Amino acid sequence: MPVRETQVLTPDRVGIGRAAELLQQGGLVAFPTETVYGLGANARNGQAVAGIFAAKDRPRFNPLIVHVASLDAAHEIGVIEGDALRLAGAFWPGPLSLVVPVRGAADLSDLVTAGLSTVAIRVPELPLSRGLLTQAGVPVAAPSANPSGRISPTRADHVIDALSGRIDAVLDGGPCTVGLESTIIAAGVPPRLLRPGGIPAEAIEACLGCALALGGDGSITAPGQLASHYAPRGKVRLDADGSKADEAMLGFGSVPGDLNLSPAADLAEAAANLFQHMRLLDDGRDLAIAPIPDTGLGRAINDRLRRAAADR
Ligand code: TXA
Ligand code: MG
Repeated sequence: MPVRETQVLTPDRVGIGRAAELLQQGGLVAFPTETVYGLGANARNGQAVAGIFAAKDRPRFNPLIVHVASLDAAHEIGVIEGDALRLAGAFWPGPLSLVVPVRGAADLSDLVTAGLSTVAIRVPELPLSRGLLTQAGVPVAAPSANPSGRISPTRADHVIDALSGRIDAVLDGGPCTVGLESTIIAAGVPPRLLRPGGIPAEAIEACLGCALALGGDGSITAPGQLASHYAPRGKVRLDADGSKADEAMLGFGSVPGDLNLSPAADLAEAAANLFQHMRLLDDGRDLAIAPIPDTGLGRAINDRLRRAAADR
């Protein structure tokens, strides 16, 4: 893989302009969203999209989420109607990705859809992301900006540490406020929860007035759905009420630790801290993690923790 000189861009007119230009030219640009930092490429440029897989060392070509600035732009990429349109109206911009039938006229690289007849689309909420997408004027395919299988990045530093020399630029927008990837819903009857994430499944069910089907329909095996993912270097032990010798401890609520995801037991705060705290405690020791309630954002947090703890 050719060495690239990675520019760190500031979150202002100049930085956004340069990032947009690089995307238009087929470059690889990491950019912040409210969920995690994404590694973006022009979704219509097959060579640029292939560069994402190379930079991440992703072992397989899995479908990627396409990021656009608005619902109007999303309509050009996919067929968004019925329940999907209702969810878009309620939760976009925001941490929700919708899997819908792809439009041929969208002219996406086959690598983005992995040859499927559907596409995952998201309109991020962070104004900096939407400013970049508007200025780039192209749909941007972006998985999380981390090497395959590792912890997702919630700060520009995380991206630089792992991908410097492999990508063209990082737009530094500071820490991500949600801290977990988007919730992914596949359109269908009933709609299906493919990945719990930044919007609680309960909020989606309340909006639709029906229960979501759970899990994939077997048509794809994607990294976010692989058992071992989001892994620190040490072993991970869940539902711990304290640490053993040689373990670091990640606390929650009244269960103390070397770090505490949220002393007040606030799940939104815990989500925002999750990946950063796992990194800080990934210091060669194994990691014990306090129990997290399995409701609301806690479901998404527990999904990531189970994958971090899975056998590799
Ligand atoms: O928060 C997020 O969603 C972040 C930020 C950067 O936006 N992006 C992200 O993208 O997590 P990525 O590429 O890591 O997640 C892509 C996931 C796949 O693992 C797969 O589960 C699902 O999206 N996906 C994409 N296209 C799909 C399709 N056509 N059918 C089913 N699932 C699909
Ligand atoms: Mg990821």
